[in-house]
Amino acid sequence: MRVAMIGTGYVGLVSGACFADFGHTVTCIDKDARKIEQLRSGGIPIYEPGLDLLVASNVKAGRLFFDTDATQAIREADAVFIGVGTPSRRGDGYADLSYVYAAAEEIAGLVDGFTVVVTKSTVPVGTGDEIEAIFKRVRPNAQVAVVSNPEFLREGAAIEDFKRPDRVVVGTDDARAQEVMRELYRPLYLNETPILFTSRRTSELIKYAANAFLALKITYINEMADLCEAVGADVQQVARGIGLDGRIGNKFLNAGPGYGGSCFPKDTIALVRTARDAGAPSELVEATIKVNDERKRAMARKVVKALDGAPKGKTVGILGLTFKPNTDDMRDAPSLSIIPALQDKGARIQAFDPEGTPEARELLRDVDFKEDPYAVAEGSDVLVIITEWDQFRALDLDRIKLLMKKPVLVDLRNIYKPADMQARGFAYTSVGR
Ligand code: UDX
Repeated sequence: MRVAMIGTGYVGLVSGACFADFGHTVTCIDKDARKIEQLRSGGIPIYEPGLDLLVASNVKAGRLFFDTDATQAIREADAVFIGVGTPSRRGDGYADLSYVYAAAEEIAGLVDGFTVVVTKSTVPVGTGDEIEAIFKRVRPNAQVAVVSNPEFLREGAAIEDFKRPDRVVVGTDDARAQEVMRELYRPLYLNETPILFTSRRTSELIKYAANAFLALKITYINEMADLCEAVGADVQQVARGIGLDGRIGNKFLNAGPGYGGSCFPKDTIALVRTARDAGAPSELVEATIKVNDERKRAMARKVVKALDGAPKGKTVGILGLTFKPNTDDMRDAPSLSIIPALQDKGARIQAFDPEGTPEARELLRDVDFKEDPYAVAEGSDVLVIITEWDQFRALDLDRIKLLMKKPVLVDLRNIYKPADMQARGFAYTSVGR
């Protein structure tokens, strides 16, 4: 099959490279000439483990191409995917669909013969209908089927998630489009991955419902962590104790500093807007957003407490800035709330992140960025782990202890054991234990 992928962000680039790896001929298109130039010369604009090798091998095999001009790729395509961004609209929280609609207009002007147009971007319910209306207006005679095919991949595990998904959701009632989609996902089909065919609106909602549920699950265990601290229980054991119940499941029950990233924050807000507009408000999702926002601020108070309530003039060492490990993505990262809150209280910040520093420099003021965890520990009054990068799991703690002004550790990801840390002479605080 021939695929045109509009947008070379996270979803577009990973999906494009994976479809090429499935054996299809894929052209990834982006208006950003610098990005296309970078990709053509073997560079990858995002940090995603394994993506460089996957792109290189498929380019070499002659299945993966990059272009700023969509004309030829769209004319020849069996399927055109829209994988552009849908950020939160400034001010009101609705998903900003201007890039999606602009892509639809462009595609409408170019398609030739029966073409399946697929939204991979996360779009609110009814967006497929809008795209269909654009086609009717711009090219009334075009033979297109507009399909929803949400992407569930996680940053840092994106290739694995694409190639071994729990399920593939395809929203369309068009039999020819179903055939094309089945063919595109044939390798997964052979793997017995469940492929769920639904109506387009249902498919659009599934993506939001899934992300909001996961955000809610994390927020729930975070609340339980607070309760554990108040009553002297251990949240990790609570998570295990409830997670072994198959109806609950053991995933996404790690208590921490609150969820961030490119999806959960924006998708929960967009779902709340859609639900209110539809006259079926989701109070649970509204509460989730509020509790999660408040949590990030509460984490700064935890650090202040570890400094005996006197942060002024103290040096806080921060390990991990990105919203989670194995990404350079800083969007809605808890560090962006925690660090300014500590600075407001007069603390000095020195920080290290394995991949996030370039982006963090743009977003944080007056932070002394260091080269490694030990440089952060040096002279710190407290060390705070915000992101659970693997390299923070096996720190030379004796060295850290010697470098710090005082051995005080706040572990917001529960990667160390309280008893071990006490035995090593650290004043140690974690989450829900
Ligand atoms: C998420 C969804 O998982 C994915 O299916 C969707 O397509 C996009 O959004 P992503 O944002 O990449 O993926 O990261 P994810 O691993 O889901 O983590 C999101 C946030 O939740 C992170 O800040 C992470 O630290 C936090 N989290 C996750 C927890 O605090 N505890 C957990 O148990 C799991």
